[in-house]
Amino acid sequence: MTAGAKTHAEMKGGHALRCIECGAEFERAEAEFRCPRCGDLLEVVYPAWAESEGKTTAWGSHLKQVWRERKLSFDSENASGVWRFRELLPHFADAGQIISLREGNTPIFELPQCARSAGLDRLLAKHQGMNPTGSFKDTGMTVAISVARQQGFSWVACASTGNTSASMAAYAAHGGLRSLVLIPEGKIAWGKLSQPLDYGALTCQLRTDFDGCLRILTELVRRHPIYLLNSINPYRLEGQKTAAIELLEQLDWEVPDHLIVPGGNLGNCSALGKGLEELRSLGLIHTLPKLSVIQAEGANALVRTVREKGGKQLVTVKAETAATAIRIGNPVSWKKAVRVLESTGGRCEQVSEAEIAIAKAEIGSDGVGCEPASAVTQAGLKKLVRQGFVHRQQRVVLVLTGHLLKDPEYTLRFHRGELLTDAAQGERERLDPYRRAPLEVEPEVEAVLRVLEKAEKTDATN
Ligand code: F0G
Repeated sequence: MTAGAKTHAEMKGGHALRCIECGAEFERAEAEFRCPRCGDLLEVVYPAWAESEGKTTAWGSHLKQVWRERKLSFDSENASGVWRFRELLPHFADAGQIISLREGNTPIFELPQCARSAGLDRLLAKHQGMNPTGSFKDTGMTVAISVARQQGFSWVACASTGNTSASMAAYAAHGGLRSLVLIPEGKIAWGKLSQPLDYGALTCQLRTDFDGCLRILTELVRRHPIYLLNSINPYRLEGQKTAAIELLEQLDWEVPDHLIVPGGNLGNCSALGKGLEELRSLGLIHTLPKLSVIQAEGANALVRTVREKGGKQLVTVKAETAATAIRIGNPVSWKKAVRVLESTGGRCEQVSEAEIAIAKAEIGSDGVGCEPASAVTQAGLKKLVRQGFVHRQQRVVLVLTGHLLKDPEYTLRFHRGELLTDAAQGERERLDPYRRAPLEVEPEVEAVLRVLEKAEKTDATN
């Protein structure tokens, strides 16, 4: 081991919960995860890290080596792409308490078609939809639900646009806990709704939107001993920050120029920003990528907060978008997100429903695919390039948050021409070249051959 490096035992992951506004520190949070003094959000901090100042370079290179070595281990803690980075997470004295489904370890893909369409030489995507339940939520869930079990809870709960509920239900079932899901009726993709049912969650569809579900849940946890697993829970963000660590490791610690993420409740961008800042403060990297957040035009609370209030006061909206994962008008982590935009120099942009649909088809054309909410990143990138904020030769990574199969109905409706039917004529025409509806063909070889020949002719003329 390098001289001056700290071992995990020395660091112990001793942590506290600190209010992001008044700075008060607590050992344990109240049920709704807000500061009991001023009501603002909490974040996990590691006071022991301060002692490592001055030795950080040695500790940093030690960590890089340890994390790499763990990739060869079959131990379940090391096989998790979250717990492999446990020096930067809350410490569990008994690793047997950890509930893990081997989350993380997600791939980075090249997106050549998307790069061409955006006007970049090269474009990468970190596909968080390749997690065990098909979304980035798993990386945060493993940490927060392990804390729930450690604290003796037998019930966990979340309000969700779909992915959080799928993830929570899987981890609860795996760890022997009961789970309660509150989802907005009719506004959740079928792939996501099916998951908590199979994992045995108590699933309630409420006649309200996501923001309404979260309001009810916040009241519920005050009145009943049930552990809240929405992203207001700072342990969720601790797990989600490891995606930034894993990304940097995959890039051999070369910091990209831009990282682009979708924004809904704004937990994910806050988590990735926290991870990046911690890597820098510990000396593992020396600069930060500009972290930009993209929202749907119909759910643009952060965009409006930044533009209309200079990021000082939240502007809530009545959210509407076919990218149901980010159909959120009152984002909990807006203040953390504003701070990440400011500290990394990123931008916040919004994209239209047609731009999302086209971007999703483009990501599909690269053989990668994602759910609609993830595609806002490619749509937003194209806008940021047009604005001159992102340049052709720069290194850009999109964070794809959910798997294509989460919302097959959106994909089918798009290709069949059933989506955006009330869009303006000009906009509908823009979508047509991206549509690839299934063809009805007679059950004869000749008929299939004719279709094939026609397709080859079209390819040759394009
Ligand atoms: N992408 C996907 C696929 C999501 O499911 C979500 C959020 C986001 C992006 C936005 O992330 O909220 O951290 O800004 N889904 C939540 C849910 C709200 O309930 O599954 P965020």
